[in-house]
Amino acid sequence: MQTLSCTTGQPDHRYFVYIEKGITDLLYEREDVFGDYDHFVLITDKKVGKLHGGKVRRQLQSFNSPVTQITVDQGENSKKLENVQKIVEKMVDVGATRRSVIVALGGGVVGDLAGFCASIYMRGIDVIHLPTTLLAQVDSSIGGKTGVDLESGKNLVGTFHQPKAVIVDPLLLETLPDDILADGMAEVIKYGCISSSKLFVRLLGYEYHEDLLEDMEDIIAKCIQIKINVVEKDEKEGGIRRILNFGHTIGHVIETYFQYEKYTHGEAVAIGMYQITKMSVREGITDQSSLENLKLVLDTYGLPTEMPEMDLDGIKEVLFRDKKIESDILHLCVMPRIGKAEIVKMKREKAMALFQPDLDPIQETTPNA
Ligand code: GLY
Repeated sequence: MQTLSCTTGQPDHRYFVYIEKGITDLLYEREDVFGDYDHFVLITDKKVGKLHGGKVRRQLQSFNSPVTQITVDQGENSKKLENVQKIVEKMVDVGATRRSVIVALGGGVVGDLAGFCASIYMRGIDVIHLPTTLLAQVDSSIGGKTGVDLESGKNLVGTFHQPKAVIVDPLLLETLPDDILADGMAEVIKYGCISSSKLFVRLLGYEYHEDLLEDMEDIIAKCIQIKINVVEKDEKEGGIRRILNFGHTIGHVIETYFQYEKYTHGEAVAIGMYQITKMSVREGITDQSSLENLKLVLDTYGLPTEMPEMDLDGIKEVLFRDKKIESDILHLCVMPRIGKAEIVKMKREKAMALFQPDLDPIQETTPNA
């Protein structure tokens, strides 16, 4: 087992991330994590609930406190305020108190929704994440971002609420469909791009899927450690945490434009990483060989790179609602070379150039990582 620690906030909040193949079968042994609560509220989705809900529920019951399971539909559409209200009302009905804990069993949607509920229930209770997708294991379960979507945009309502613990079982990935695994691989590749050329090169070396899965405990731990290093320095995304958004500004527009149906988050981020790097090559920030290697690794994992056709008005509508635009300035992460990230600023009115390769948009660079 690998145990990583993450400390954020004022005053310090420290939590541990436990990574081990098969750890979801051994939860009943973790008195240190689960032993102190008067009620477990297990939040999951229909698919994950069917696969792993019973096993997790039975183990939580062994700690002699009631367990209430709340199951939402699978998919982004569950991240809505209506579900928050249903969940917190159910928690009141079953008698959850400030000494209760929400256990989030699922991918990014469940984690964000459950984390948000934990952050507001009785002014905030503990949440423990049991992420079941690669994306949630390496990214969304770490760092305390929670949120739900509004009609007008993704994650527009949310909080920073650090978990009490995160328990990561790489064995759960073995039952995931290939596209969901590829979705998470985009984030894994992102960590290589922004912080570790060694990880990047390692990812290029896997010929067989089985070899990748075999090494997954190590790869996940490496990614989580990179994320911890970043969020410990900048919990609330005022500076360096922005490097975690490499590929995400363009990716977010693509995902939203196609209403989360045509591209997964990872696919959209893959296109975003490739397209922003193409632009930074043109601007003289990145060398051509880094772009070629990025294409190679994205192709290896079956991830797309080409910008889809979108009309400019539609893009504008999504882009200008992005919460990452502050005082008319967009902070973009670029990759000067594999393993290194930098934040560049772009004026809001120039941001459309991200989708029009002939324009010359980048204003100013700030070394940041
Ligand atoms: N997913 C990027 C972050 O947590 O900041």
